[in-house]
Amino acid sequence: MATILDGKAHADRMLEAVRLGVEARKAKGLRAPGLAVVLVGDDPASHVYVRNKSAACAKVGITSFEHRLPADTAQADLDALIDRLNADPGVDGILVQLPLPKGLDSKRALHRISPEKDVDGFHPINQGLLLEGLPGLRPCTPSACMSLLAHHGVDLKGIRAVVLGRSEIVGKPMALMLLEQHATVTIAHSRTKDLPAVCREADLLVAAVGRPGLVEGSWLKPGAVVVDVGINRVESLSLGEQIFAAEPKKLENLKTKGAVLCGDVRFGEAMDVASAVTPVPGGVGPLTIAGLLTNALMAADRNR
Ligand code: GUN
Repeated sequence: MATILDGKAHADRMLEAVRLGVEARKAKGLRAPGLAVVLVGDDPASHVYVRNKSAACAKVGITSFEHRLPADTAQADLDALIDRLNADPGVDGILVQLPLPKGLDSKRALHRISPEKDVDGFHPINQGLLLEGLPGLRPCTPSACMSLLAHHGVDLKGIRAVVLGRSEIVGKPMALMLLEQHATVTIAHSRTKDLPAVCREADLLVAAVGRPGLVEGSWLKPGAVVVDVGINRVESLSLGEQIFAAEPKKLENLKTKGAVLCGDVRFGEAMDVASAVTPVPGGVGPLTIAGLLTNALMAADRNR
């Protein structure tokens, strides 16, 4: 039976470190870090994320500013808000919640954020610093995953790591961070030939594709460490029956509640093959916000 890597517990440790950092600033007479979150439109999942971010800020003493714009906002108006936040000395970090409504260019918005305030780590300057192995603001989810692996003593030197997914937000930066720690890294994706065979090579598998239950137990090398970044809502009972065969409790929840969350990895099957697995929920999900607030503190400490 694999060890469960508890993301919530690690997120709490990271948030406690941020809280102490905020206290230390205050003790030096510096103000609390300020994080501005820009939410355009009414994507329900985005509203939940933004609410969770504001609540987490309050817990650690970071001042949060929410800016809500209507779905039909013009790009020029979004640009103007970003410019204003870039110039605001009380704002250390700016996050534009993705996805943006149709008609808005998210790359243009992300590129407009000052790199010093880019707490998502998505600006090309910060991506370039990561590529060069230099310090900068790094994407929250992969950096928090690295912190989780370090906390659990996972030795990355020389191991085979497979990152499933090639997004700018998780896959690509995760691969670079693993490479920096001397892993031998493969980035696999939907077009990769014989995905199960590639995954079976992995001493560490990071799954970030957003496909519920894609990774089966038979895809894993015995003893592998599995980090499951997927957060997927499963509503179909026939899909649920396949995915949750090894997790009767989840299957029961699906039958009674009509929907349950699951990762990209079949957790119940993985528990029988892997040496350590992050669960969904309670794995990588809580770590993202902890990574974000860590970045907000870092931005504040660097800026002034
Ligand atoms: N939407 C989903 N994940 C993220 C993220 O990490 N950052 C931003 N800005 N939007 C998101």
